[in-house]
Order: sequence, then C-alpha cells, then structure tokens
Amino acid sequence: MNLIRDKKIGFIGTGNLAQAIISGLLESDTVRKDQIFASNRSEKRLDRVAEKFGIRNFATNEEVVDSCEIIFIATKPQDLFDAVEPIAPSFDESKTVISLAAGIRLETLQKTLPNVRNLVRVMANIPIRIGKSVIGFCTAEEAVLVDDKIRTLLSPLGYVVKAKDDEMLSAITVSAASGTGFIFELMTYWADWIKDYGFSDEEAYHIALETFLGAAMLAKESKTKILDLLDQVASKKGVTHAGLDSMRELDIERALRISFEKALLRDKELGR
Ligand SMILES: NC(=O)c1ccc[n+]([C@@H]2O[C@H](COP(=O)([O-])OP(=O)(O)OC[C@H]3O[C@@H](n4cnc5c(N)ncnc54)[C@H](OP(=O)(O)O)[C@@H]3O)[C@@H](O)[C@H]2O)c1
Repeated sequence: MNLIRDKKIGFIGTGNLAQAIISGLLESDTVRKDQIFASNRSEKRLDRVAEKFGIRNFATNEEVVDSCEIIFIATKPQDLFDAVEPIAPSFDESKTVISLAAGIRLETLQKTLPNVRNLVRVMANIPIRIGKSVIGFCTAEEAVLVDDKIRTLLSPLGYVVKAKDDEMLSAITVSAASGTGFIFELMTYWADWIKDYGFSDEEAYHIALETFLGAAMLAKESKTKILDLLDQVASKKGVTHAGLDSMRELDIERALRISFEKALLRDKELGR
C-alpha cells in the first residue's frame, strides 16, 4: 500500500528547507507535482518556487490547510505562530502536521494546534540539499499511523530515524544538524595543518575533503564496524597509532562531548 500517492501535501513557507524537500520528493518520484500545494508570506518567492517545481500555489495558508492532508510548516521558528495560530481551527483531526521549526517542542505545537492528533516534529540537516540528510522525527503521543508515512515521505532525502521525544530530537539536532557544522570545523583543522607543509589552499581543501569523504564512504560501503576499520588502519607502534595515542591522552573525546553538551544547552534555552 502506498501511503503517500493519493495524498495532497502542503507547504506553509517555501524557503530553503521546503524547497529542498519538494525537490527531493519530486526527483525521487515519491510524489507527483500535482500533489503539492504551497503558500508563502511573500508572493514573489511563492510564484518563483511554484514555477520552478510546477506545483500549485495558494494565496493564503488557510487554503493550503483546507486542501491538504499532510501539511509541512516550513517557516522560521519565530514566524510559526503568526503563520498558523490565526487559522488553528482549520487544522482538524484528519490532518497530519509536520513542523520543521527548530526548537519548538511538541507540547507547544499541541497548544497551538489543539485539534491535531497527528503532530510530528522533524529535524533535518543541511545535506538534505543533496539527499544525504540525517532526518530525525518525533510524534505526539496521540498520533496514529504516522511513522510509516513519515518514513515513506522523507527516506528519499536521507537517513530517517525516530526519536522517542523532544529530548532525543534535541540530541539529533546537536549530533547531525550542528554536527555538520562541527565536521566543517574539523575539516578546516585538517586543511590548515597540511598547508603548513607546503600544500596550496586548493590542495589542502581536497586532501581534507577527500579524507573525510573517503573514510565515511568506506565505512558505509564495507559495512564494517568503525572500530574494526580503526584497527585495520592503526597497526601497533605504527604512525596512526602514535597519533591516536596522543588524541586519547589529550582526551579529545571529552572536549567534544563538552562541546556537544554546550550546544544541547543552547538548544534547550532557545526552545523555552
Ligand atoms: N535550511 C536548513 O537546512 C534547515 C535545517 C534544519 C532545520 N531548519 C528549520 O526549517 C525551518 C525553515 O528554515 P529555512 O532555512 O527554510 O527558512 P527560510 O528559507 O527563511 O524559509 C522560511 C519561509 O517561511 C516563509 N514565511 C514566513 N512567515 C510566513 C507566514 N506567516 N506564512 C507563510 N510563510 C511564511 C518565508 O517567507 P518570505 O519569503 O516572506 O521570507 C520563507 O519563505 C526553520 O524553522 C528552521 O529552523 C532548516
């Protein structure tokens, strides 16, 4: 049974994330363009996006809600309440509502849209632009039959994983969404170090990039546990081993864990 094929899918807000999702859904043939409906605050952007993807646009958010069974709320968090509060009664029990807004907890969404049972929070990261996202989701306790729908909809855009609650979703935010930023930072350390040995900016960039990419792809394609791969590259008394020993002595893991926890605290502060 296809859970999505006969459904109308709406987007309130047609910014960067909405466009990445629409693009992924169409390219992967998960949905047809005649299933997608959208509204946006500025008409200009809405028209541009509607033309780009060949989807239907509506002048108001309410029309999207009235017309669709599955509705993505894709505004910035600070705009979410303006977008949906005035039309809350239009969101009835039949709707599945997916909030993409970072930091707005399920409990707050439930208070804003009290008629909706099938309420979902989704957290994606920026590689969603190339279909390589980590996508976490959590659902309201009352939600029924939504998990498979969410997986069918979002799997073409990356690895989809369910979080039990907002706390776990915050951990995904730090690990995968902020985590992408942390990896970029580490890549700059790699590139800067190798430049000290005479490589050009461009060469250093490629060395860093291909090292990260190659390691991740090998781990994925060989289906070998990362610890086993680590054993394979780090022979006793060898070069890699010496570097790893130093990393462990310096307790890099602890330093990173502290940074993750700091980011998590900030996520909690912003969610209040
Ligand atoms: N981009 C990412 O990679 C990413 C990753 C993780 C999470 N997120 C989350 O995804 C959400 C969207 O982020 P984004 O980067 O896509 O933001 P964005 O590019 O700024 O898009 C937000 C869109 O919402 C529209 N909007 C604002 N108020 C509205 C209203 N009252 N009614 C209808 N549309 C309205 C804006 O219209 P205008 O054209 O008038 O500005 C804009 O097109 C955020 O909550 C963010 O936390 C994004």
